[in-house]
Amino acid sequence: MFVSETHLPQLLPPAAYTDRGWYERELESVLRPAWWAVALEQELPAEGSFVTFDHVEGPVILRRSGGAIRAYRNVCPHRLAKLTGRASGRCAMLKCEYHGWEFDDSGATRRIPDAPSFRPLEKGRLGLDVLRVEQVGPVVFLCHDPHAVPVREWLGADADRFERQFAGASWISWKHEVDLPVNWKVVVENNLESYHIGTVHAATLGAIPAEGVCGHELDAAGSRFEAPGDTGFLSPMKRHLAGRLGRAMTEQYVHAIVHPTLMWVAVDIGAGFQSVVPTGPSSCRIVFRSAGWQSGGGRPLVDWAIRRLHGVALPLWRRVIGEDLALMPQVQAGIASPRHPGPGLVSRREERITHFQRWLLDRLDGTADRGVAEPGGCRVVPREGVA
Ligand code: FES
Ligand SMILES: [Fe+2]
Repeated sequence: MFVSETHLPQLLPPAAYTDRGWYERELESVLRPAWWAVALEQELPAEGSFVTFDHVEGPVILRRSGGAIRAYRNVCPHRLAKLTGRASGRCAMLKCEYHGWEFDDSGATRRIPDAPSFRPLEKGRLGLDVLRVEQVGPVVFLCHDPHAVPVREWLGADADRFERQFAGASWISWKHEVDLPVNWKVVVENNLESYHIGTVHAATLGAIPAEGVCGHELDAAGSRFEAPGDTGFLSPMKRHLAGRLGRAMTEQYVHAIVHPTLMWVAVDIGAGFQSVVPTGPSSCRIVFRSAGWQSGGGRPLVDWAIRRLHGVALPLWRRVIGEDLALMPQVQAGIASPRHPGPGLVSRREERITHFQRWLLDRLDGTADRGVAEPGGCRVVPREGVA
């Protein structure tokens, strides 16, 4: 059931989706202090493995060193080049590809070629910026703010459930990145509604789900949508495979957001997450990852069957996501119009959007400390007791 009994206001003005000043405020108040799911640990399988990506505060290199996954700003302190432009690889040490400066695991400068040319230079003075990294299960989180709360606290009451769902999800079935000329909130808000299913996804998902089978839950960290899980003819097989791994298959489809942008889903015999990374006031990058549960080597047939089942389901989900992505620039273009017929409106079915907007406004106003936001007309349900 939905939480609200009435339609709700569109709280954000159109400028929130286009204006650079607004975006700068979001960077400071909401995006910098957030935790960002940036990898699964199996993407860094060996000592020295690394991946690089651009993020809200510039390029980042994530590397496994000394047995731990560490993150550094991918900018050299010498001439400010990226240490490497490669997307992934393995390196024996952190070394800039331009002039060869080397850095130890703490980011401190370890060796400078032709060091006497830099006299006088205090030993260890120049180094790489180190960023915070924490893991929840196999999911690697990054934070740009040294004072932010730990990631489990940021995930709120979802932390245990998130960890359980991703535990053992060691086979990455899909990783996909898309750049869109769209404000990050357009993508988030699209994800937070089921209203468009009957139009945008008519060919893939069919009709809009009945309210009686939908559950909405709103809390201080985010919101979730729940509906009955997979009831297709493959369900008994999935249940059997999950049982062989000593796990229970998810009987509910769960789609959760942890504000501002982490979306994660509990899917049959696996899990997936999507991170919307803002790259400017009117642009963002969306990164999807889904992963299947695996036995860790003890049950190769079960592992094989799970991978096959993920392979069967993925084409449908790729199509669904493609349908959303194709429409997003059209939404942005309308919002960016200089004139509008009104401020917009949100239905009960889209109430997670108003909840998200209230959360955002509270932080931009600096009033978040007053407690759980009360979205217009919505009752906020505490998440305690959620399995
Ligand atoms: S820019 Fe990195 S060593 Fe010169
Ligand atoms: Fe959609």
